[in-house]
Amino acid sequence: MGIRVRKDNRVFSLDGKNSSYLLCIDKQGHLLHLYWGGRISNLEDFDLPFVKGISTFEAKEDIMAEEFTPWGQLRFKEPSLKAGFLDGTRDLDLVFDGYREEGEVLSISLTDSFYQVKIQIVYQVFAEFDVIKRYVILNNLDDHEIRIQSFYSGEWNFLGSDFYFTNVQGTWANEGNRFRQKILPGKNVIESRRGITAHNHSPYFMLDRDAKEHSGEVYFGILAHSGNFKLTIEQKPYDQTRLLLGMNGFDTEISVSPEASFETPPVYFGYTVAGFNGASNSLNQLGLHLLPEKHRETVRPVLYNSWEAARFNVTCDNQAVLAEKAAQLGVELFVVDDGWFKNRNNSSAGLGDWYPDESKFPEGLDPLIKKVKSLDMKFGLWLEPEMVNPDSYLYRMHPDWVYGFENRKHSLSRKQLILNITKQEVRNYLFFVIDQLLTKHDISFIKWDMNRPFSEPGALNLPKENQQEIWMLHNRHVLALIKELRDKHPHVLWEGCASGGGRVNFEALQYFDQFWPSDNTDALDRLSIQHGYSLAYPIKTMVSWVTDSPNMYTKREIPLKFRCHAAMMGAMGIGCNLNKLTAEDSEILSQNIAFYKKVRTIIQEGCFYRLSSITESGYHAVQYTKDQRSVIFAFKRGVSRHKKNFQLKLKGFKPETRYCISLQGKVAAIKSGDYLMNAGISLHLEGEYDSCVFEIFPKMGELYKNKKSKINLF
Ligand code: GLA
Repeated sequence: MGIRVRKDNRVFSLDGKNSSYLLCIDKQGHLLHLYWGGRISNLEDFDLPFVKGISTFEAKEDIMAEEFTPWGQLRFKEPSLKAGFLDGTRDLDLVFDGYREEGEVLSISLTDSFYQVKIQIVYQVFAEFDVIKRYVILNNLDDHEIRIQSFYSGEWNFLGSDFYFTNVQGTWANEGNRFRQKILPGKNVIESRRGITAHNHSPYFMLDRDAKEHSGEVYFGILAHSGNFKLTIEQKPYDQTRLLLGMNGFDTEISVSPEASFETPPVYFGYTVAGFNGASNSLNQLGLHLLPEKHRETVRPVLYNSWEAARFNVTCDNQAVLAEKAAQLGVELFVVDDGWFKNRNNSSAGLGDWYPDESKFPEGLDPLIKKVKSLDMKFGLWLEPEMVNPDSYLYRMHPDWVYGFENRKHSLSRKQLILNITKQEVRNYLFFVIDQLLTKHDISFIKWDMNRPFSEPGALNLPKENQQEIWMLHNRHVLALIKELRDKHPHVLWEGCASGGGRVNFEALQYFDQFWPSDNTDALDRLSIQHGYSLAYPIKTMVSWVTDSPNMYTKREIPLKFRCHAAMMGAMGIGCNLNKLTAEDSEILSQNIAFYKKVRTIIQEGCFYRLSSITESGYHAVQYTKDQRSVIFAFKRGVSRHKKNFQLKLKGFKPETRYCISLQGKVAAIKSGDYLMNAGISLHLEGEYDSCVFEIFPKMGELYKNKKSKINLF
């Protein structure tokens, strides 16, 4: 495992537990892709590729499988890098210039044949996850500026034209709709130009020929960048499929001064034979490893959030009442969402003025915080720091603190504008107000929201040659600000939100401990939204609330048990109007919260299996397994006259071990691992929106005693 270099110094292998990724230097000094797939033991088995052009219109450069394609000479394929020099030359001619190997890191250098520009492609092997990290650095060793128009982080080559591509598609409140489509001749692009990842797609790929959910070869790669991204898939007429993933070059031009360098965000990529679920588990486990260190190992608390119960009408008194009820249910963290700050009675005013509204909190936040703490809960607050309403004191004092062009009106979205965080004074203000809130009050949690896309992206404070860097700079400054605040207030837990799942990505998860995946809290819709989320992102970061029925957005009525089970599939939260709960509802909620606390480590950190999907059948089922203990949720959508039982084949058990199946704390059956996986258990779900949750663990004397209390479900 790690890195191997062949004796001739021309072939390099990056090895995971079960995979190898090979690159090579050909006789002309081109860095070429050689192999990606199952583990290779002997590097001598590979010949160096010998590529010839086909015609004057199809030159060798365009055909060879390059690890890093510059735009230059007779190349017409999508390049990894397009750059220009001060003398007007817009052509890069890169050749191999040595390598460095240090532990798990391999760095390969390419240099231009004339200009003093050096490209370093850095690979780091995460062998335990079968994943490789890669990023690229451009070093300008010349006396003149270099201008970059597009710069991808990752480039992958595949032989063949028979691949399928998997990602998600969505909109606000409808995130995470999984799709798999055949890659056709020409180019296919998914991207964001909205300033953040946005709800439409996610910056990753899964590529397969004929993989299934739990078997088959899947190649996957994900970008760790929270701003605009671009994924280009190109099927070439040479029986080749190429993929490039990185920051979006649209409307971006980066200037690299003499002696300076520019580093792309990283991509992480891997290979599995365990199908799409195998790819998800690698990404989920890697994601857990990348989470901010402070809260990486701790379980996520059960939270209450006021948004759906109170909307903008939060007051000290009504929140205190909710807090009492939340505490009785077993909630651990009480979060006041939007509406608590100056003049915030609806979405048209207040953003920017981050101090409590006196009419709602006459004595400030402290009386409520004290109350929440006395109930043995932690206190959290909603903020949307990057934004300002024109109707706010902040905007009236600093109308020049927003992005925009001189002779253009600002386009309002949700009646708000984006603060120009490339200005030092804006950053100072934001740090100051948030730092004050966290210093003066006992606040343990911040939900950091971002509720509009960019428009009129002008930052007139920047030198003209840097103005098109704002897409990159905004993201960088926001994350740096969060880091600075995290460092100063390490106890605080941070939730990322952008009108739901608009900012979920592998860079943001290195700054936020969890995410709000969607504003859609309808428990049925949530199953497919969470399914989409689970494709690439850790379950521990996936917050889900139990909310009222009928649902605020969809008006659908769903039983409380089903709503609880759907919310227990990630980091559980409650968003109901607790004043409307009946005694029976409270009992169901308390019981489910108590059960969730018992098994949440398995849910939040275990291996995750998608067993059945509601979008493909009337049933939805998922399994979580950690240290041989499993939790399984199953859901049924509607009434079927004929079919009440469904057979659920489980995953990941030891064939000959005997396991207890436990329902509501009682062992309902004992089965062998191979029975659970091959024959499967028969679940009996009846009626509209029925659901169940059960545990499976290896048979132990103590639990075996209960085996007579059989429950009807099996
Ligand atoms: C966004 C978030 C919601 C809520 C509202 C408050 O829509 O996604 O969860 O916080 O803002 O305005």
